[in-house]
Amino acid sequence: MVSLVENPLRVGLQQDRIPEPQILIIFGASGDLTQRKLVPAIYQMKLERKLPPELTVVGVARRDWSHDYFRDHMREGVEQYGGGIGAEDIWQDFAKGLFYCSGDIDNQDSYQKLKAFLGELDEKRGTRGNRVFYLSVAPRFFSEAAQQLGTAGMLSDPKKQRLVIEKPFGKDLASAQLLNQVVRQVCKEDQIYRIDHYLGKETVQNLMVFRFANAIFEPLWNRQFVDNVQITVAETVGLEGRAGYYESAGALRDMVQNHLMQLFCLTGMEPPNALDADSVRNEKVKVLQATHLADVTELELSATRGQYTSGWRGGKPVPGYREEEGASAESTTPTYAALKLYVDNWRWKGVPFYLRTGKRMPKKVTEIAIQFREVPYLMFQSAAKQANPNVLALRIQPDEGISLRFEVKTPGNSLRTRSVDMDFRYDAAFGQPNKEAYSRLLIDCMLGDQTLFTRGDEVEASWRILTPLLEVWDAPAAADVIPLYEAGSWGPVEAELLLNRDGRRWRRL
Ligand code: BG6
Repeated sequence: MVSLVENPLRVGLQQDRIPEPQILIIFGASGDLTQRKLVPAIYQMKLERKLPPELTVVGVARRDWSHDYFRDHMREGVEQYGGGIGAEDIWQDFAKGLFYCSGDIDNQDSYQKLKAFLGELDEKRGTRGNRVFYLSVAPRFFSEAAQQLGTAGMLSDPKKQRLVIEKPFGKDLASAQLLNQVVRQVCKEDQIYRIDHYLGKETVQNLMVFRFANAIFEPLWNRQFVDNVQITVAETVGLEGRAGYYESAGALRDMVQNHLMQLFCLTGMEPPNALDADSVRNEKVKVLQATHLADVTELELSATRGQYTSGWRGGKPVPGYREEEGASAESTTPTYAALKLYVDNWRWKGVPFYLRTGKRMPKKVTEIAIQFREVPYLMFQSAAKQANPNVLALRIQPDEGISLRFEVKTPGNSLRTRSVDMDFRYDAAFGQPNKEAYSRLLIDCMLGDQTLFTRGDEVEASWRILTPLLEVWDAPAAADVIPLYEAGSWGPVEAELLLNRDGRRWRRL
């Protein structure tokens, strides 16, 4: 049982303020993300009275939709994928602020039309020229959209205009650098919000609180006590009809460079001096700068990838990646990636960080496991016939919580040991569902708080680590050697070898 004592330390201290009246403009409004995540997340905040009454949302996409069609489509999204509309009058009030404006991403006339429309809305809805432009479009359009917005003079006021860019930001180091250059030509770094929805998850934010608001863990959080760290993001879903994007992305670009590297940074970084955006992001950049693939000359000793073949999910047969709609029958796109990183600094030198992620795994689970060193000498008999090291597991999702594994004596005359878990569960302690990650991030962006968004140098530092691997995996010679794993399994055998070579195993989840 955990007793709850209010603690004033919070990550991002602005959350309780209501943002100023503004217009959120979503490019790519006919896409899945808008209907499934973004608008339901905004509506959740409406229900929680966190939004200014003037808040206005304008969807932009190529299709020729009417305002009413857009409103109905968003309502479906809130009903199906969000928490429902709650009271009808609240929905009606929200829907009055939803608008649609069709346009082409590469056509300056469309931006001029949008600009004029936003001006009218300012008059009508009292939004005072405050704008958040959200690029929820295919990554290849990011720089085009940013440039066109710049040309239209829609990003020229750093105090009133912000730009949100979805992931992946670039597809390797060079393209990320180029994209950074392009967006910095049209706006300032403090207008740019590179979004990674993992940073909006409660349990990810809790990582900082856990590390820096408790005195007992931080002294152990280093090479003297930690044997290795394992970060896992396993998904049960497959391609989900996203071949158009995923075929050119793959697991490293889709998950590792952003979500897993963020979890890695928060685990590995030094305590920031303060919780403002730059103090936190400086520490993340520092740890990334000290990080490299375990063996930079023999990359196969540092990483492995895989692609799922047909198998089973929930008792039903599921197709292999190459049979998925839109995927090439010869595709070598990895749906699984595992890698080993080292951090060359005083805290972590020599401690391996193992990262893995895959689609069509047996279980959806995201966790960070800190595995401590073994005891120097074991004088008891252990049920496992060996000393089981202590493990601190931070469960990000689902079953959000934290558990500490340690050894106890089993009852009886002999001195035998067994591992048990001391467990904290978010739902048992707080009894409330976790908020949609996008709600938190959208509010922060409207408030102008960049703490939970990725800075330009941070995104480049992360690509710098991974680009050598991408070059090898993308090379034509590597194409026919992608290891395979059956859907519903824990990944290719090569991933086991990555740890076995070090005399270690992946945690069984
Ligand atoms: C997205 C990826 O960023 O994150 C998807 O593009 C992935 O491929 C998703 O499925 C996972 O997010 P979550 O919040 O379900 O862990």
